[in-house]
Amino acid sequence: MAFHDISREKLLITGVSGYVGFKTLLISLSRGYAIRALVRNDSHVTDLQNRSAALSAALKSGQLEVAVVPDFLNQEAIYTALQGVTVLIHIASPLAVQTEKYQEEIIQPAISMVTTFLEAAARVSTVKRVVVTSSMVTLIPFEWNANPDSERLYNPTDLNTTLSKPPTSPMHAYWTSKALARLATRNFIETHSPDFDYVNILAGVIIGRDDRLIPSPTNKPSTADLLVGTRASVLAPLLGKEASAPFPYVDVPVHVADVAKAHVDAVDSTRVPGNSEFILASDATRDGVVWERDARALARKYFPSEVESGVFPMEGSLETIRWRVDTSETERVFGWKHVGFEETMRGLVEQYLEIRRLEKGE
Ligand SMILES: NC(=O)c1ccc[n+]([C@@H]2O[C@H](COP(=O)([O-])OP(=O)(O)OC[C@H]3O[C@@H](n4cnc5c(N)ncnc54)[C@H](OP(=O)(O)O)[C@@H]3O)[C@@H](O)[C@H]2O)c1
Repeated sequence: MAFHDISREKLLITGVSGYVGFKTLLISLSRGYAIRALVRNDSHVTDLQNRSAALSAALKSGQLEVAVVPDFLNQEAIYTALQGVTVLIHIASPLAVQTEKYQEEIIQPAISMVTTFLEAAARVSTVKRVVVTSSMVTLIPFEWNANPDSERLYNPTDLNTTLSKPPTSPMHAYWTSKALARLATRNFIETHSPDFDYVNILAGVIIGRDDRLIPSPTNKPSTADLLVGTRASVLAPLLGKEASAPFPYVDVPVHVADVAKAHVDAVDSTRVPGNSEFILASDATRDGVVWERDARALARKYFPSEVESGVFPMEGSLETIRWRVDTSETERVFGWKHVGFEETMRGLVEQYLEIRRLEKGE
């Protein structure tokens, strides 16, 4: 039987300053992998150390190196960073940032970045696998949100086919960027037949505790740091009206720790086959999550005094779109079950309250 020898692997991870990448870095280190993390800015090196004693210790011991490459489209710099690397975990990608320059700031960087990394990796003979953070948004057209097919069961072979339509919002542009990046990865492997294979991780709405925000003498997070992106939207139903999410969310949560774990599990080719794609989403086998109803029920169950006292006024809105997805292949191949919404959301709410208490000096 094939054996995965961690001591022979060297991982290059991008996106480590972000929510998913940070957790992926922590899990890879705890498994014993030697890691080179790629960041864009010198300040990220200090920041990583300030946010986690484990990262600080790994930097000191040499298990972790951090390489600074200001431009992730610089193929020569990426090629240099890939020297000696066996598996690339490419997580970095622009999210739906507030901009009107959809092509320049969201779509093009996502596609060009993944292409640059794949081209550079193809020149490095040690690279055997590339794990890419894709998204479930790549399965369906953005327009699906306005007219969802909530009966059909979607699976990892589904792919958005309306990629030529000009985006009308940052979220629409993000949708397009992820689908085109996913296609670029698949096409690159097909056209160039490099020495490595790929695993695309198609994640749902990633939520749960943000490990970058664990308070310590060197890390003093605020609730504003937590109320960003998906975390802000899913906490909205507990908060005031002003916290309301600007658009509905599909009902496919997934714990950030499961997403991170899947990236690290996918490093092992004896466990996860190559040239494969996996949907990551919890609660797929029950009736899905209804964000407002379920988040508020959870608050009443686990945080009744905060509901009673008005810490949670329960006035913000987050509409839900039902989306049926098949995660059975993911759970079969990876050999674990997704953490359920209740546990994921409870951890996030606890973290919000912990940080709020510190902020208020309570
Ligand atoms: N959050 C979700 O619900 C969700 C769901 C499905 C898939 N995903 C995917 O998961 C990945 C990570 O998302 P996240 O939630 O962790 O986002 P995040 O916290 O905003 O982190 C994004 C990371 O990507 C890097 N990045 C962004 N644009 C870049 C560029 N042009 N060049 C180089 N680096 C760039 C950022 O680096 P800097 O710090 O230098 O900006 C940061 O490290 C993305 O691929 C995203 O599409 C997220």
